[in-house]
Amino acid sequence: MATTTDKLIIFDTTLRDGEQSPGVTLNTEEKLEIARQLSRLGVDVLEAGFPVASPGDFNAVQRIAREVGPLMEGRTGAGRVNQEMVICGLARSVKADIQTAFDAVKDAPRHRIHVFLATSDIHLEFKLKISRAQCIERITDTVSFAKSLCKDIEFSPEDAGRSDRAFLCEALAAAINAGATTLNIPDTVGYNTPSEYGDLIKHLKENTPGADGVIFSTHCHNDLGLATANTLAGVSNGARQVEVTINGIGERAGNTSLEEVVMNVHTHPLSYPVHHTINTRLFFSTSRMVEDLSGMAVQANKAIVGRNAFLHESGIHQDGVLKNKQTYEIIRPEDVGVTTGNLALGKHSGRHAFKTKLDDLGYAAPALSDAQFQAAFAKFKDLADSKKAGVTDGDMHALVADVRS
Ligand code: KIV
Ligand code: ZN
Repeated sequence: MATTTDKLIIFDTTLRDGEQSPGVTLNTEEKLEIARQLSRLGVDVLEAGFPVASPGDFNAVQRIAREVGPLMEGRTGAGRVNQEMVICGLARSVKADIQTAFDAVKDAPRHRIHVFLATSDIHLEFKLKISRAQCIERITDTVSFAKSLCKDIEFSPEDAGRSDRAFLCEALAAAINAGATTLNIPDTVGYNTPSEYGDLIKHLKENTPGADGVIFSTHCHNDLGLATANTLAGVSNGARQVEVTINGIGERAGNTSLEEVVMNVHTHPLSYPVHHTINTRLFFSTSRMVEDLSGMAVQANKAIVGRNAFLHESGIHQDGVLKNKQTYEIIRPEDVGVTTGNLALGKHSGRHAFKTKLDDLGYAAPALSDAQFQAAFAKFKDLADSKKAGVTDGDMHALVADVRS
């Protein structure tokens, strides 16, 4: 379909920032499995790891670059993604890190080095123990080195969300002069509000010398529960790449969730002047794969991919949905790969949903007489009152057997 909007580049960092979730360690085979799924999903850039961190990480990134980097069968399955996924490796602003990241990703047909250096005063003074002038020198020196190896270079001023804006513009200008083509703006500690973060992106785009033609990217953490809102504010203010993870996994409270951002721009095409090429129908299966392999459980009420995200329990809602799904559904569950029923039977459910469930289980009239139906419904209400986890299909079969005996 022809479109006049800008493409929103989906940069997935499940295998790098996501793996930084406390307690999560993925082995190489598990990383490869997730990387293949992310390619099928249509991710544009995959941050496969931090190669200097360990020989295991280097090996995983290299295998992803070699085995998942080339255009893979299934990636074009949605008929919309016809380019190789860019494979990216993270590096501190240190030449040895950058060389190692390059060695790990270089065999992918499309590859990127992502260099980062903190720019906030608190990080400069206490963590790096360098002055602002030394910070600029280091950016120039290391980004130029990265550029001598690879043409696709991303630079991140870590803790940009708490950095001085004028200094940030200087740091970003140094990165552009040294060859960076993507500027990622991390709200590393999830401190910004949506209006602050949106305004930061706008300010940097307008005030960084040489920024025309450079892609601005969002990278938001969820410490105050605002990662998705901040990312979308960034997009509204001109960011054209978003850094995200499946299920929002990541350091501390996590990163922005891929599925939430994509479904927001998907559901509100008039609010966000961008399009994406993600196969949203793979969201549910991808979420479950990452949940299983990472061991990080998805909360039941998580937007888009939580177990309850499309379940209706109250009688009023169930009745509405049975009459017209749009009464209580803003997304078609099948559009995000949810194919199971949408009625949760519990103590708030009414006769309409109860009857629909019986029909689905094969007890459509005349399988039960009216009196049996009324008796079954009364028993169901008693049972639902005592079962916290809801009434299962097995419970329904037992109820029917009971009223028929
Ligand atoms: O949150 C952060 O600042 C990061 C950078 C390394 C991009 O993850
Ligand atoms: Zn991060």
